[in-house]
Amino acid sequence: MSNHTKKRVSIVGALAATALLALAACSTSGGTATTSTSGAAAKIIKVGFSQVGSESGWRAANTKDIQATLTTANGFDLKFSDAQQKQENQIAAIRSYIAQGVDVIAFSPVVESGWDAVLQEAKAAKIPVVLTDRAVDSKDTSLYESFLGSDFVLEGQKAGEWAVKQFGDKPTNIVELQGTTGSAPANDRMAGFKKAIEGHPNLKIIASQTGNFTRAEGKTVMEGFLAANPKIDLVWAHNDDMGLGAIEAIEAAGKVPGKDIQMVTADATHDGMQALVDGKINFIVECNPLLGQQLADVIKQIMAGQAPEKRILTKETTFTQDQAKAALPTRQY
Ligand code: AHR
Repeated sequence: MSNHTKKRVSIVGALAATALLALAACSTSGGTATTSTSGAAAKIIKVGFSQVGSESGWRAANTKDIQATLTTANGFDLKFSDAQQKQENQIAAIRSYIAQGVDVIAFSPVVESGWDAVLQEAKAAKIPVVLTDRAVDSKDTSLYESFLGSDFVLEGQKAGEWAVKQFGDKPTNIVELQGTTGSAPANDRMAGFKKAIEGHPNLKIIASQTGNFTRAEGKTVMEGFLAANPKIDLVWAHNDDMGLGAIEAIEAAGKVPGKDIQMVTADATHDGMQALVDGKINFIVECNPLLGQQLADVIKQIMAGQAPEKRILTKETTFTQDQAKAALPTRQY
């Protein structure tokens, strides 16, 4: 038997064994699927998850983690949809989850505003909603059970504090690559950074524009910044991907990213960390995308009739070049 055939046989064997185990562990009672661990039957929880899109390395890691955690083996039936960064797609997905009668709806809102009507519909259908990663600005907080994710204001503040330390009293021209207009991370990171540099008039934001959290748009916007501004000292990019796009634009303009123009970004994804190790980015503020387990725990609490914490904050750090060198080999995303 060739190695290839052996591998296929062992994969088929493993799949058959997994299917048998799954059959043994799952039963259907009154039309409701259940899993059984140590004899106790537990209902499979139907979760409808509406993801923002696939705009960044952070998002890819977030999607992978959620899909790997909310599995049948862990007691979930996950219905997942990608909204391609469009609010109307998320609203349609949430309505479809309501129509399907899922047990819980979770979503990461592309923008902060405009959710009240659809969240009211979920509430009327008695389907609890969990916000992951990004907030909504609804005044009525009874429209969702819990919000788990980062403190984006703090992330922006950490980036600004680094800029204050790094540039001291030197006159410094800063350009800002904002995330998606109207999104919580763009609004909050912008505010946090601004607050940190207040009182340091030598640090000036000379241009600020959205790059929609993507590498391609980060590059295009940076090309415009470079063409319009002969002296740029620092790029503050709201995520690694836009920073990586800006690096391409800076190099194409014959300048050295990290030296001629310094860079501070948010996320700390693998590609961003590599650019930090390579000296093309100078500092990264971490934003952790691994929210799957916290989401699973919150959903199980809700299904058990318990009230989860209303706000669950993600633990995060920052990275200098040396810290990135040490962290990169074991980085999960
Ligand atoms: O909401 C989190 C942000 O969204 C990440 O910083 C960014 O990379 C993503 O697209």
